[in-house]
Amino acid sequence: MTLLRTALLAALPAVYAQFPPPGVPYPNTTYPNATNSYIDYAALWGQTEGEYFPAPWGEGSADWADAYAKAREFVSQLTLVEKVNLTTGVGWEGEKCVGNIGSIPRLAFKALCLEDSPLGVRDTDFNSAFPAGVTAVTTWDRNLIYQRGVDMGAEHRDKGVDAQLGPVVGPLGRIPEGGRGWEGFSPDPVLAGIAVAETIKGMQSSGIMATTKHFILNEQEIFRQGAPPANLSLNSISSNIDDVTLHELYLWPFADAVRAGTAAIMCSYNKINNEYACQNSYTLNHLLKGELGFQGFVMTDWGGHHSGVTAALSGLDMSMPGDIGFDSGNSFWGANLTIGVLNGTIPQWRLDDMCVRILAAYYYVDREGNQVPDAPNFSAWTLDTFGYEHWVAQENYEQINYHVDVRGNHRDNIRATAVAGTVLLKNNGALPLTGYEKLTTVFGYDSAENPWGPNGCSDRGCDNGTLAMGWGSGTANFPYLITPLEAIKAEVQAVSNGAFESVTDDYAYTQMVALARRATQVNGVCIAFGNSDSGEGYIAVDGNLGDRNNLTLWNNFDQMIANITSECNNTVVVIHSTGPVLLDSFYDNPNVTAIVWAGIPGEQSGNAITDILYGKANPGGKLPFTLGQYRGQYGADDLYLPNNGLESPQSDFAEGVFIDYRVFDKLGVTPLYEFGFGLSYTNFSFSNIQIQKHSAPAYTTPTGMTSPAPTYGVVSNNSADYVFPAGFHQVPLYIYPFLNNTDLGSSSGDLEYGSDYVFPAGGYNSSSQPYLPAGGAPGGNPGLYDVLYTVTAEVTNTGSVVGDEVAQLYLNLGCPSDPVVVLRNFDRITIQPGQTVTFSADLTRRDLSNWDSPTQNW
Ligand code: BGC
Repeated sequence: MTLLRTALLAALPAVYAQFPPPGVPYPNTTYPNATNSYIDYAALWGQTEGEYFPAPWGEGSADWADAYAKAREFVSQLTLVEKVNLTTGVGWEGEKCVGNIGSIPRLAFKALCLEDSPLGVRDTDFNSAFPAGVTAVTTWDRNLIYQRGVDMGAEHRDKGVDAQLGPVVGPLGRIPEGGRGWEGFSPDPVLAGIAVAETIKGMQSSGIMATTKHFILNEQEIFRQGAPPANLSLNSISSNIDDVTLHELYLWPFADAVRAGTAAIMCSYNKINNEYACQNSYTLNHLLKGELGFQGFVMTDWGGHHSGVTAALSGLDMSMPGDIGFDSGNSFWGANLTIGVLNGTIPQWRLDDMCVRILAAYYYVDREGNQVPDAPNFSAWTLDTFGYEHWVAQENYEQINYHVDVRGNHRDNIRATAVAGTVLLKNNGALPLTGYEKLTTVFGYDSAENPWGPNGCSDRGCDNGTLAMGWGSGTANFPYLITPLEAIKAEVQAVSNGAFESVTDDYAYTQMVALARRATQVNGVCIAFGNSDSGEGYIAVDGNLGDRNNLTLWNNFDQMIANITSECNNTVVVIHSTGPVLLDSFYDNPNVTAIVWAGIPGEQSGNAITDILYGKANPGGKLPFTLGQYRGQYGADDLYLPNNGLESPQSDFAEGVFIDYRVFDKLGVTPLYEFGFGLSYTNFSFSNIQIQKHSAPAYTTPTGMTSPAPTYGVVSNNSADYVFPAGFHQVPLYIYPFLNNTDLGSSSGDLEYGSDYVFPAGGYNSSSQPYLPAGGAPGGNPGLYDVLYTVTAEVTNTGSVVGDEVAQLYLNLGCPSDPVVVLRNFDRITIQPGQTVTFSADLTRRDLSNWDSPTQNW
């Protein structure tokens, strides 16, 4: 087995590198040290709350009532081990999805399949590769964002996935170099919040569970699990934050996600104020389940689980992928959760709450009405038709891939989103092109396909060829990738049978200069493609450990452009990037006649950019972040070096709410291109702004108390009832809820079992609890969402072609400590030439409020 495992690990170095190697000391399970040191640290950062117990039990509030009724009835029938089986993954590569919980055969309850990613079904074939979140949000178009969610959800459903591991609003995008910002939306919380809500509603309308992640403050990749890529001698980074910033910035879009009904939330790898996110009683119990009234379940990020009892009392509901180190065969939960309930360190009501939450989420999205045959009909571990069901154990050789084509007509939304999510930054009249240019020339590897194929690098972990997806778990295989090179060439052919040449080697300067010279001599056009890539921390690309080392364009693009523009007086620059990039070396060069930011567009990349360049679509995308002149202008930067010995590196969010445009405004710095900026082939004018006040009900604090913690069914206290049944076949390395024998201590496998640890007494309190002032319903106090004002304005298309304008409403909240302005609402409107349309945007109470830490209310 050791040899076999070594061989498998060798085959998966990138994935495995993030987790503890086999043979690390067996960590505490049921009795980890429950003493938190973070309270002092939190106080230092103005955090008014420390630990928070008990873990709120789900009550089935708002539109969750029916789902809760079904869940309670189901859970009431379960034995202790059946309950535990719902809460704990079977271990890494134990079943066919990246995450799998156990089944309940007695009640024909199929094991749940949890699968990435936020932009399509990962690790399979015949799926779509959607535009990344950053391109979706750049459309500022609620309908397109919603439809993308519907289509992604349908593809997961049709592959037999129960929970899609997305969308992302953590990272929010504090750090422009941060590796995973592109998986999510925007560093602006309102824009991110609207995008995440539309995405969730779309996904769940297709009958699968959305998993909003990563909760919370997972703002950089480096040190997320210790030293890069993973070093157990160092603890995970701690994001240290004050209460106001947490509420006004990072928690905001999660409130929208909860209000939109997200079925699941994934807690993150990092610590928050020096306690791990997946056992942080303040963020999980107080913020998420208390204040935001979250009714679904919390799962760990993969390997983000760090204790047995503490995590359970602190609000965790599901351990993923279930084992401590990948394929270690041991778990903080599984049998140890069974033991925890039997020895009284975990109250039955807490386990019951975990199960009710998981089942309620399942019913809430109508999973039982959305099953497909052979689900899951793919294996995350191979694209071969036949293989092992239990991949790591190499057991059950059978058909594991059915190659089901789930793409439907989704390419329509994919292309429309990529088009609408493209931003025209500069245009001196060069665009749109006609197709009749005498010589069209294209430059740069970013225009062409990776020579190893569009899926040639595992999890897109390289930057070869045109960038249509970042790297890491937030990816999907391309069914095809339409490159800009082929699409532009086809367009020129179709329109005029025109001459077309390209140089796709970024360092072939001699050839580039010669071609650029020829293009200029015949009044042709030079289209230069460049990119900047990033991804998840378990893969390093060109020395970038997930997070980028800088904001410059890759492959020395600045030099490439300098060479091209030395000859070509009509150079159109197209950028694909995962986040902000530096354009200062060429943006004002007169030979650069246009600049287009084309985001992270997915499979229809080439068609989308061609639609824009040739005016088949009028650009209407707006930047979801700010493009500055140099990295020091942004409010925060990555922490690249440990700053706390072998203890958790400390990342102090000392800039407060002043990230992205808020810091540019605060310091009076004019960026190259501001947040919300984007040109069109037409012009718009605004007039007649009006503010209408509504008579909303007064803002009240929720009254009354919760019910006492309910329990469902009776748990026998006899450990003999929970040992492995006679003759039971154990799949090697699989995580089970059963005990090895009737002795709890030896079954736990924990050398420190029974040590005298002190657990927080409040964690066992099952009596009725008051509601929090800012709480009371999913998303927080319902009064926060009362509409207080409506703002209208007239928008006129003063040009000669139809176009889309995104009207954006910004406010100053009025305190000296507030940002100069904050975005509060927007609408993307299509307007005919000469036509005037009324823009209308509501402002809610939340939109007009600041967080008041002393009263813990808005
Ligand atoms: C990532 C998650 C992902 C999980 C499962 C983790 O490394 O942080 O976003 O869902 O792996 O693939």
